[in-house]
Amino acid sequence: MEESRTHYISEALGLPAGEKVRLLGWVAVKNQVGGLVFLRIRDGSGYIQLSGRKGSIPDVAWRAASEATLESAVCAEGAVKEDRRAPAGREVVLSDFRILGKAEPWPLRKSLLESPKALHDLRYLALRGPKTSAIIKVRSKLMQAVFDYFFGKGYVYIQAPTLVKAAVEGGATLFPVKYFGETAYLSQSAQLYEEAAICGVDKVFIVQPAFRAEKSRTSRHLTEFWMVEAELAFASFQDVMKVEEELVHHMAAKVSEECGAELGRLGRKVKVPEPPFPRISYDEAIAIAGKGGLKVEWGEDLGTEAEKLVGQAFDAPVFVTGYPVSARSFYHMSPPDNPKITLSADLLAPGGYGELATGGQRLHDYELLAAKVREMGLDAESMKWYMDLRRYGMPRHAGFGIGVERSLRWLLGLKHIRSATLFPRTPSRLYP
Ligand code: 4AD
Ligand code: MG
Repeated sequence: MEESRTHYISEALGLPAGEKVRLLGWVAVKNQVGGLVFLRIRDGSGYIQLSGRKGSIPDVAWRAASEATLESAVCAEGAVKEDRRAPAGREVVLSDFRILGKAEPWPLRKSLLESPKALHDLRYLALRGPKTSAIIKVRSKLMQAVFDYFFGKGYVYIQAPTLVKAAVEGGATLFPVKYFGETAYLSQSAQLYEEAAICGVDKVFIVQPAFRAEKSRTSRHLTEFWMVEAELAFASFQDVMKVEEELVHHMAAKVSEECGAELGRLGRKVKVPEPPFPRISYDEAIAIAGKGGLKVEWGEDLGTEAEKLVGQAFDAPVFVTGYPVSARSFYHMSPPDNPKITLSADLLAPGGYGELATGGQRLHDYELLAAKVREMGLDAESMKWYMDLRRYGMPRHAGFGIGVERSLRWLLGLKHIRSATLFPRTPSRLYP
C-alpha cells in the first residue's frame, strides 16, 4: 500500500458512496467485537469512522487494525459508505490498513484531566485533543485576521530586536541575558523601535513575542507572550483608539465567520463587537470599581479586580481613557491642560477578562522627554537614540499594543491564559 493520502478526512466526508480513498491520520477511538473492528481516526481536518471485517481484508491488514493502539499514526484504504449511525453520516469500509507509527499505551488518562499541572507536563501530547486543537486553529485564524487588517490598510510590517538595552514598560519585569560582558534584556515591547520606523514609512505594525518577568501567577499573565503593536505618525490618541476597535472587530468577525467548527467544539459563540466601543474616563472606571466595593486610590493603576468590575459593567470591550501619569510608563504624553493624566487608554474586555490593549500618544518633544527620563532616573545613555529621534523631525504620533493570548482568551472564554498558547511560559513552567 502506498503511503500518501488521496483525500483529507473532511474531503472524504463529502464524497459519494463507493468512492475509494486512502487516508492518513491518528487513531482517536477503537472498538473491536469479534471479527469486526471500528476505528475513529482524525487528521488535521476532521474525524471519520472506519470499519473492517476479518476475512474481507488481507490478513496483514486485519492484524494491523487489531493491533492499532490509541494515537497510533495509520494509513487506511477503503470505500466511502453512507451510514446514518456514524457520527458524520459516512464511514469508510476498509480494504487495507497499515500502522505507520505505533503508539505506546496513551498516558493521558481521565484522572489526569483533573490536574492542570499534570496535563501541562504532557502538553506535547495533550495538544492533540479536540479542544486544544480547536484553540490552535482559532489562534491561527486570529493571526491571519491581524495581518489581513493591517496589510489591507497599507501598514508596513516590520521586525524589531528581541535583545535590547532598555526597559519600555518598567525595570521590574526585565529578563536579563548575558551579552558578551554586558547585560542585555529580552524585549518587553517593540514600541520604541516602531517609533523610529514610522519616520521612514509612516505607519507600521509588528507581531512578535514579548517577555515580562512577571512573578504574579495570575490567569492572565505569561512570561512570554505575543504582542501585536501598531504605531502611526501624525496620529493622535483618538486616532489610535479607532484603529484598535476596528482591529478587534475584524479579529472577532473573522473568527466568528470562519471558525464555526472549532467554536462548535469549544461550545462557544463569539459576540462580534461593533465600533465605536464605549469610552469612559479613568475617574468613571474607579467609580465603577468603588460601587463594586473596591477602593482604588486616584493615581493607582487599575488592578485585576478593578478591571474585572469595569469590564463586567459592559457587554462590549470598553476604553478607559486618561490614566494618571503615575500609573504609566515614561513615554506617555499629557494633554496641555492637565499634566496629571496621559493621552492614553486601556481597552478592557467585557465579562471580566481584563486588559486587552494599551495605547496612547507619545512624548514627541525632546525637552519634555529628556525631563521625564531625568525625573524617573532612567538610563539616559541607553535611551539616547530614542531621545535623539525627537531632534530630527518627530511629529505627533501614537500607537498601541494588544496581547494575542489575552484576545484569544477573551474570545474563547478560556479560564486561564495558558490555554491560549501552545507551550506556555510562566514563572513555574519552562518545560516542555
Ligand atoms: O500594556 P502593555 O504593557 O503595553 C505596552 O507594552 C506598550 N508599549 C504597547 C504599545 O503601545 N506599543 O502591553 C500591551 C498588551 C497588554 O494590554 C496585554 O494584552 C499584553 O500586552 N500583555 C500581556 N499578555 C500576557 N502576559 C503578560 N504578562 C502581558 N503583559 C502585557
Ligand atoms: Mg497595559
